[in-house]
Amino acid sequence: MIPQLRSRGVKADSSVLVLEQDHHAQSTIRKILSHQHLAVDVVSSAEDAFTHLASGSVDLLIAGFESSRNGLSGLGFVEKLREQYPHLPLIITSSVHDTETAVSVMRQGATDYLLNPVHEVQLMDAVARALTHRFASKQQEDYQHSLVQAVTSRTQMLREALEELEQACDFTLEALGDALDLRDRETEGHSKRVTAYTIAMARAMGLSTQAVKVIARGAFLHDIGKMGIADSILLKPGPLTISERLEMNSHCERGYSILKKIPYLSEAAEIVYAHQERFDGSGYPRGLKGEEIHLGARIFAIADAMDAITSDRPYRSARSFDHARKEIAGGAGTQFDPVVVDVYMTIPNSFWQQIREDILQKHIQVGTMARALQA
Ligand SMILES: [Fe+2]
Repeated sequence: MIPQLRSRGVKADSSVLVLEQDHHAQSTIRKILSHQHLAVDVVSSAEDAFTHLASGSVDLLIAGFESSRNGLSGLGFVEKLREQYPHLPLIITSSVHDTETAVSVMRQGATDYLLNPVHEVQLMDAVARALTHRFASKQQEDYQHSLVQAVTSRTQMLREALEELEQACDFTLEALGDALDLRDRETEGHSKRVTAYTIAMARAMGLSTQAVKVIARGAFLHDIGKMGIADSILLKPGPLTISERLEMNSHCERGYSILKKIPYLSEAAEIVYAHQERFDGSGYPRGLKGEEIHLGARIFAIADAMDAITSDRPYRSARSFDHARKEIAGGAGTQFDPVVVDVYMTIPNSFWQQIREDILQKHIQVGTMARALQA
C-alpha cells in the first residue's frame, strides 16, 4: 500500500528536484512522485541541479549518487550542497551496496540513503519524512524570523520614545537656561549663546554625539546654582565684599548638588561644578588643573569668555570677535586648555558672529539647541 503524503501533512504542491542521469531511474522516480501530486523537475548534472536550486523554490532534492558525482569528486556534491543549502532535505539513491559509503553520505547531512532499484514504498516513506521535517523547520524559521521582526520593531519604537523623551528634557533644560538669563537681564541670551558655541567646538573636536549632548546640557545649566544666590548679591551693581564673593562662587557647587541627583544629568553636573576652573589651577571652587577639569568645562570656558568679551557690560561696550580671539589665544595654557584653543582658532569669527546674530534676532527660539542635538 502506498502511503499518501497529504495524509502525513505534506503539501500537494511541494517542489521536488530529481538529479538523475539514468533515464530508466528518472522515469521510475518521476512516475512514483507524480502519483502524489508533487511538482517534479528532473536534471541530469550536478551543475544543472545547483542552477535550479538557486531559484530557492525547491523543497526536496533526490539525487542519484553516481549522477551527483558528475564533475565533483567523491562526496564533494553533498559537501557543496550542505555548504550552500544547509537545511534542504536530501535523499540519495545509489547502486553502491556499501555501508561505509552510506554512513559517510548520512554523516555529511543526507536525510536518507536508498538503494537502487528504488522501491516505491521506501521512497515515499523517505519523501514523507524529509518534507515533514522540511516544513516543520520552515515553520520554526518563520516563527523565529517573525519574533526577530517583532523585537526589532519594538526596540525601534522604544528608541523613538526615548529620543522624544530626551528631546523633551532638553527643551526643558534650554527653557530653564533662558529663565536663568531672565533673572540677570545683563546676560540675556547668554545661556543659548554659550551652549551654541560649546556645541560647535565640541563637534569640531570630533566628540561623539552622546558626549556633545552631555556637554551641551552642562552648558545650558552652568549657572543653575545662581538660583540659590540672593538678588542683593547677584544683581549688586558695585564690587562684592569678600563674603559676598564667596557666596557668589558657591553657585558652582550649588548647581552640582542640584543636578548630581538626576541620573540623566549626573555627568553634565561635573561640567557645572568645574565651569569656573582655569587650566593652570587658579580657578574655583576646587582649583582643578589641566585634564582634572572635565573636557566639557574646558570647552565651555572658551565659549563663556568669548560671550563675555563680545557682550555689553555696564562698564564697557561689547568688543569684537577679533578681540576675543586675541584674548583667548593669550590665555592658552593659563586660563584655557591649549588643545581646545587650537580647535577654536580653526573656526572663523564670521561663524561665531552669525550664531550671535541669529540668537539676538530671535531666529533661534527655545528648542533650537535641543533639536540640533538630535540631528
Ligand atoms: Fe558661572
